[in-house]
Amino acid sequence: MQVTRTIAEFRAARATLPGPVGLFPTLGGVHAGHLALVDAARAANASVVSTLFLNPTQFGEHEDLDRYPADEADDLGQLEAHGVDLILVPSREEMYAAGFDTTVHVGGITDRLEGARRPGHFDGVTTVVLKLLNITTPDRAYFGEKDAQQLRVIRQLVRDLDLPVEIVACPTVRDPDGLALSSRNAYLSSEERTAALSLSRGMGLASDAFAAGERDAETLRFLVRGELEAEPLVRVDYVSLAHDETLAELQGEVTGTALLSLAVHVGMTHLIDNVTLG
Ligand code: PAF
Repeated sequence: MQVTRTIAEFRAARATLPGPVGLFPTLGGVHAGHLALVDAARAANASVVSTLFLNPTQFGEHEDLDRYPADEADDLGQLEAHGVDLILVPSREEMYAAGFDTTVHVGGITDRLEGARRPGHFDGVTTVVLKLLNITTPDRAYFGEKDAQQLRVIRQLVRDLDLPVEIVACPTVRDPDGLALSSRNAYLSSEERTAALSLSRGMGLASDAFAAGERDAETLRFLVRGELEAEPLVRVDYVSLAHDETLAELQGEVTGTALLSLAVHVGMTHLIDNVTLG
């Protein structure tokens, strides 16, 4: 794996790679969920490129930028072992040179869920993702379904700006007990980790009820909320049952596919998860 630190160096190496090229961009804190994306990219493309950049502009003032659990040497080792050919590990100055003053804003969908609670977060994501796509020029880019809203926002960015890239979504990877893999799981104490299992349990209750014919949106949300609220260490930020594409909150009878998503704090740790119903 060739490690580059400047955009110019990356572009020179990228020009020599056979296509099609798959991109896996990451903030770091690489885990098996990320590696499943790399494996999917490896299986479908002649070359795999990656970017490792802890993008400060997608973190709010009181969020965990300064303690984000990323270890560059470990991340690079894991990505190399999974067949990444070329990676860009830029500094903040390389990505945001003095005078940088452009923001890419996707409307509507970013006002909801995570966007409503983390002002500016998706502007940070879409601006850096557009930069990374422009720098790496992949044929396909791989994102996890765990970040369900991010995935939809990026799809809209690509559609609206006619970006010549296919966005490929890969399923959430879970520990055997149901906890969705996340870099932030590293923050959880063992009691908090046990409490965090209520996320997948709650979603399981709603999925089972949906499979058994329950279609009332409020009842389905209530089932999840009840499971979460039974855990004293869990503070619910939201439980949403929304239109699968627009993420507009559903009321009354659910028809068609819906996205059940939730965000909580377990202690100080922000966790999200989701499942598609229907
Ligand atoms: O999902 C992530 O890791 C980040 O939001 C991304 C897409 C790499 C942008 O910084």
